[in-house]
Amino acid sequence: MPQVEHVGMFTTVDALEDPGVFIGLLDRIQDAPDVQAARADVLARLDLRPGETVLDLGCGTGDHTREVAALLAPGGSVVGVDFSTSMITEATRRQASSPTTATFEQGDAQQLRFESNTFDACRTERMLCHVPDCEAALRELVRVTRPGGRIGVIDVDTAGVMIDNSDRAMTAAFAASMTDAIQNPWIGRTLRRRMGAVGLVDIDVRPLVLEIGYGAIEPMIDAHVALMQQAGLGDEEVEAWRRELEYSNMAGTFFMGMTMFAATARKA
Ligand SMILES: C[S@@+](CC[C@H](N)C(=O)[O-])C[C@H]1O[C@@H](n2cnc3c(N)ncnc32)[C@H](O)[C@@H]1O
Repeated sequence: MPQVEHVGMFTTVDALEDPGVFIGLLDRIQDAPDVQAARADVLARLDLRPGETVLDLGCGTGDHTREVAALLAPGGSVVGVDFSTSMITEATRRQASSPTTATFEQGDAQQLRFESNTFDACRTERMLCHVPDCEAALRELVRVTRPGGRIGVIDVDTAGVMIDNSDRAMTAAFAASMTDAIQNPWIGRTLRRRMGAVGLVDIDVRPLVLEIGYGAIEPMIDAHVALMQQAGLGDEEVEAWRRELEYSNMAGTFFMGMTMFAATARKA
C-alpha cells in the first residue's frame, strides 16, 4: 500500500521511502484499455514520422517513450525526461532490454535544459496534474518545440471521479480526498484555455471517461481509506464503504470511472 502521507506525491517521487510503490502503480494504470486507447489516439494525432525528434516529458518508467521510439525509426530520436531519478533509473533499466532507441534523463518540466525550437513534437501524459507550476511546464513545452511542431497532452480531471457505491457521502469524500492530494486536480478542463494562453493553435481537446479496474486502483483506495479515517470520517463507516467495493469486485460489478482529457495542438 502506498505510504499514506505521500498518496498524491507523483510530484516528488524520490521523497518516498520506497519509490518502487509508485512504479508499481504506474504499471497497474497504464495497461488499462481506455488509457491505451487515449495514448494511441494522441499518438495518431501527433502524426509522428521516421527521422523526427521527440520529447516525452514526465516519462515515468519510459514504456510510452519506447512506443514513440518505434514510430521514429529509422533516424529519429526520443528523449524521456522525468523529475524523479528513481523513475529515470527504472526507465534506463527497462530500456536495456528494448529493441527501440530512447534516452532518458532527469529534469524539471518547469525549467528544461533544451534549446528553444529543438523538438518536432512533445508529449506529456498524466504529469501536468502533479507539477506545482503547470503553466511554466506548458510554456517550456512550447518553447522547446519547433515552429509548426506538435504537442500532445493527456491528463485527468478528478471532479469526474465516479464509483458505484451505495454510500454517496463516503464516495464523495473519497473523490475529495483524491482531489486534495493532487497539485492540479482540475487540469483537464483547463487545457483548452491554458494551451491557448501559451500561444498554441489548432487546439483539439477531447474529454473521455477512463474506466479503472479494481486491481489497478486498489492501492490508491486503501491509501485514501486510511486518509479518510485519519480525517475522522469514522473507521467503521469508511471500512464498510471499502468492503462494499471489494465485494462488488468479487461479484464482477465494480465500476470506477474518471474523466480524462486527450489534447493536441500545434506551435504557430
Ligand atoms: C503519473 S506519472 C505518469 C508517468 C508517465 N507519463 C505515464 O503515463 O506512465 C507522473 C510522472 O511525472 C513526473 N513528474 C512530476 N513532476 C515533474 C516535473 N516537475 N518534471 C518532470 N517530471 C515530473 C513524476 O516523477 C512521474 O514519473
